[in-house]
Amino acid sequence: MKLDSRWNCVWIAAVGFDGLRGVMAQDEGLVPMTFEPLPLGSIKPAGWLKDQLQLSADGLAGHEHDFYDYVAHSTWLGGTKEYSNLREGFPYWFNGLVPLAYLLDDSRLLDQVRSAADYVLGHQQDDGWLGPEKGNERNFWGRMPFFLGLMNMADADKTYERKIMDALWKSSGLMNSMLRDNYTGYHYHDGDKVGQGDEQWGRVRVQDMLITLQWMYEFHSDSHNATQLWETMDLLIKGSLNWADWYNAETYIKQDLNTLPVSITEPLFPYTHGVNVGQGLKAPAVFRRHTHNTSLIRTTQDAVSWTFQHHASASGAILADERLAGLAPYYGSETCTLVETMFSLSYLYQALGDNTYADLCEKIAYNAFPVQMSKDWWARQYVSQPNQPYSENLTKTPFWNVNSWGQTYGLETDYPCCTVNHGQGYPKFAAAMFVQVPDSGGHAHALLGPGSVTLDDGTSIACTTTYPFSNTLTYTITSPTALNFYMRIPAWTLPNSTLLFPSTNTSHPVSPDPYSGLHAVSLPPGPSTFSLTLSNPGIRVEQRANDTVAIHYGALVFALALPYIATSSPPKAYGGGGNEGLPEGYAPEEARDWVMRSEGEWRWGVDVRTLEVHYGGDMEGGEVWGKVWISGRGCEIEWGVLGGGDGEEGVPDVPPTGGERRCVGGVGEVRLEPLGGAKVHVLDIPVVELD
Ligand SMILES: *[C@@H]1O[C@H](CO)[C@@H](O)[C@H](O)[C@H]1NC(C)=O
Ligand SMILES: *[C@@H]1O[C@H](CO)[C@@H](O)[C@H](O)[C@H]1NC(C)=O
Ligand SMILES: *[C@@H]1O[C@H](CO)[C@@H](O)[C@H](O)[C@H]1NC(C)=O
Ligand SMILES: *[C@@H]1O[C@H](CO)[C@@H](O)[C@H](O)[C@H]1NC(C)=O
Ligand SMILES: *[C@@H]1O[C@H](CO)[C@@H](O)[C@H](O)[C@H]1NC(C)=O
Ligand SMILES: *[C@@H]1O[C@H](CO)[C@@H](O)[C@H](O)[C@H]1NC(C)=O
Ligand SMILES: *[C@@H]1O[C@H](CO)[C@@H](O)[C@H](O)[C@H]1NC(C)=O
Repeated sequence: MKLDSRWNCVWIAAVGFDGLRGVMAQDEGLVPMTFEPLPLGSIKPAGWLKDQLQLSADGLAGHEHDFYDYVAHSTWLGGTKEYSNLREGFPYWFNGLVPLAYLLDDSRLLDQVRSAADYVLGHQQDDGWLGPEKGNERNFWGRMPFFLGLMNMADADKTYERKIMDALWKSSGLMNSMLRDNYTGYHYHDGDKVGQGDEQWGRVRVQDMLITLQWMYEFHSDSHNATQLWETMDLLIKGSLNWADWYNAETYIKQDLNTLPVSITEPLFPYTHGVNVGQGLKAPAVFRRHTHNTSLIRTTQDAVSWTFQHHASASGAILADERLAGLAPYYGSETCTLVETMFSLSYLYQALGDNTYADLCEKIAYNAFPVQMSKDWWARQYVSQPNQPYSENLTKTPFWNVNSWGQTYGLETDYPCCTVNHGQGYPKFAAAMFVQVPDSGGHAHALLGPGSVTLDDGTSIACTTTYPFSNTLTYTITSPTALNFYMRIPAWTLPNSTLLFPSTNTSHPVSPDPYSGLHAVSLPPGPSTFSLTLSNPGIRVEQRANDTVAIHYGALVFALALPYIATSSPPKAYGGGGNEGLPEGYAPEEARDWVMRSEGEWRWGVDVRTLEVHYGGDMEGGEVWGKVWISGRGCEIEWGVLGGGDGEEGVPDVPPTGGERRCVGGVGEVRLEPLGGAKVHVLDIPVVELD
């Protein structure tokens, strides 16, 4: 997040402290999750997904603790470096590194998270505050990602459980007294300034705190004051900015916000800021656990459907170059927004069990997110565009509050939040692949991908697959007792997906539950092996705005992949418009900033009737993205640059539509690749009909 000085938000609704009347009586308890997450550490990634996590560990995320100022020299660790008064750099990093370290059992990363946790827990202030802030600088927000990391660490590492729980309980006691004192911690002061825009962040992101507190309440409240914790959660909800106020038909803005007057959009800024939207999609479901308000299920459905219908790309990226935009293919999506959206959607599937959320989560994980990381995971974009045929320092940007380097790949181009926060993307996803199904005492493969899980009773479940690059998943399961096992069948499949049991050479059609998408199998004690073949309906053409289409095949989204030349330079500092270098020797050699220029024509119209899918190469691990591709035929069309001019000074405009669209060059072959690997691409493809 960053705020332009124009956007000093007003305090949206004055918080009135009206005593301790509960939002919900404690004796009702929390509404159970439809699916319970499994403790971090029980799930291990495999295959290509593990390779990507390893690249992240060997890349930027796994080295920030060594050198990156906002982690290594953060005020949380006794240093002086912060990129904003929110002091969120270290908490974001910790939230991603904890799952990365335990998923990979990587001793170097485990040392990093343990030493970081030791330092912060060892410096807990006498009154219980965790973190460096004193007095009225204290703002709950920075604690939210840090506590999520602690929660995962306590689950994964029994040697840390006791000291984490002691620290969290002490801290939650302080939070209770701060909230009772006119909601201190929600409206902190930064010097003389009160009521600045980011002051709202604790209030609009509080669901991320509640997840940890709900977990404490459910699993770690013995010998502690659970009544007080319940009251704390009540107060947090009462003093929050409530997403249900935004996700209702009267308030919600479906238009491109760039087309509206400031007087309409400004007061709603906390609800329209991209990262907040990504995080906040889960808020109604988190609140519902506490308030038992059933209508929040509907609120969640509206939140997800309106967001993805009106403000997102075909790859599931929320288009918000800081603030929600519209559907035009030149808008940007922040890397941080994507990782937060993935986490929210995986949470929503666990909380509510609606298959839609898991499909969307996979769509982002397998398409929108990976394209925003360089292939070696040492550089990330600040924003990516659906139509981005070059990734360069732009002379004309279409963005609301993103600088000219925003869509290049780098260490901290534009703003550091995505440097510290991108690391949670795949670790959180991998850690949510398998879940418990409490109703049946069984387990489910919820987010499909290669990985395994080992349960306390000795049951092991392993899935070998190159999904989403192929559609067969092979399971090897060993259980001491009979087991109910479930697989999630994505909604894009045809009804005839099948299970094949080689031991009996029998196959069965699947019959998934229409709401959750889960198909159940009852397995006997002992070993079982079977494979699931998802029935792929072939290429699916999604109509996008202005006579363009997006191409889906299985769980992958394909984009026109343009050949490009990448050149790198030492990393730039995010300040100074991105035109100043960082001090020599600051970052390891591998940390480079990249620009990518397309070599040939990007102005293609494509005839979708000519598209054909091809497979090639070894699908196991390594560079997976280019191993399935789509060929087709198209022609060069006239297609201008936003704001006029030609060449690569601006970004592609909306292409001409209808009769204005004509072939101006010869017919040629085009190549579409999975978006995840196609750094330089056109996702919303203009259609033409060739003779
Ligand atoms: C409570 O905090 C708000 C926001 O800072 C402030 O406007 C209000 O005066 C405070 N109320 C009391 C009773 O201190
Ligand atoms: C637990 O917290 C409640 C609510 O803050 C308080 O009234 C009660 O005295 C506390 N109980 C103990 C044993 O501290
Ligand atoms: C339940 O949530 C809805 C929003 O989904 C809200 O309009 C309604 O007031 C809430 N009901 C209660 C009792 O809080
Ligand atoms: C569709 O094209 C019109 C006319 O060029 C343009 O104003 C509009 O923004 C485009 N819509 C999208 C979603 O690209
Ligand atoms: C990058 O682009 C901006 C805006 O177009 C320009 O002011 C700046 O000089 C460029 N930087 C470099 C290093 O070319
Ligand atoms: C398995 O069954 C199929 C037809 O259902 C048959 O063609 C095949 O030979 C069988 N394979 C074995 C190993 O029995
Ligand atoms: C599903 O049915 C389609 C025809 O509708 C067929 O082409 C395909 O092979 C079948 N797939 C499976 C996995 O049985």
